[in-house]
Amino acid sequence: MGFRNRNLISILDLSRKDIEYIFKRTDQMVSLLKERRTLNYLSGKIVSLLFLEPSTRTMYSFQAATYRLGGKALVFASKTTTSLAKGENIGDTIRMMSAYSDLIVIRSPYDGTALYASMISSVPIINAGDGKHEHPTQALIDLYTIYKLKGRIDGLIIGVLGDLKYARTIASLLYGLSRFNPKKVYLISPGNLTLRESVRERLKELGLRVEEVRDLREIIHELDVLYVTRIQRERYPDPEEYERVKNAFKITLNLLKNAKPDLKILHPLPKLDEIERKIDNTKYAAYFYQASLGVPVRMALLASILG
Ligand code: CP
Repeated sequence: MGFRNRNLISILDLSRKDIEYIFKRTDQMVSLLKERRTLNYLSGKIVSLLFLEPSTRTMYSFQAATYRLGGKALVFASKTTTSLAKGENIGDTIRMMSAYSDLIVIRSPYDGTALYASMISSVPIINAGDGKHEHPTQALIDLYTIYKLKGRIDGLIIGVLGDLKYARTIASLLYGLSRFNPKKVYLISPGNLTLRESVRERLKELGLRVEEVRDLREIIHELDVLYVTRIQRERYPDPEEYERVKNAFKITLNLLKNAKPDLKILHPLPKLDEIERKIDNTKYAAYFYQASLGVPVRMALLASILG
């Protein structure tokens, strides 16, 4: 199926072929950016960035991607300077933004907002993160990063460590991995931050086999890729629960002494204290490279939907 005018609500909206198509287009965008070519894929197009939750990478890389493609962006990132402050509901806001632009990128603290927006909007919707549910464009960046660093996704041993309960990036990454054939996927969940039952069930339906371990030290020597997230403080209904788990794990250089020399550590960012700072300047750290790919991946996506 072509990309033109499609919504992207879940990474599962994309087949393996679709994801590989985005990889190819991202390769092109990386080359065009290097050559500093002026691009006009979005000439005359307006993209709305409707962000009801804080963001650095997703919002600004979508904005940069729009500008790099010759389009214009309407940034709607404050509940205090818009009519949401007067009590306007999100449905009416989405109706307005779809009348003013050609595509809406939406982030919300609530699960399901992007799907709801797609039922109302007359223009395509891209989910930039909805509650604990999904973050499909981050998953595209994560998968592309693995593909570029390792040359493949099939056959790899991948560990996923962190807030498996609330991190939407983890849900989307695992669903995305189900489109490929990794050799093994370990879920490492210290402090009982285990995967939600609904995600677990979905992975079963999708046929992605996962193995759960409590301690990274048990399997660090096997991993090709380690994907880490912070504990998602903003999703904890009970602050005491957050306090109990906030220091549940930390990746240290000492802990990596048994790792493969070509292990790559990914993180969607922002990171807090879960990775020792010394690791930032080692060959293991791939997270800043990963974040830099946000612009070309989102350029590829916008050009495919609107170009
Ligand atoms: N990875 C990610 O979603 O970062 P931001 O919250 O800064 O957009």
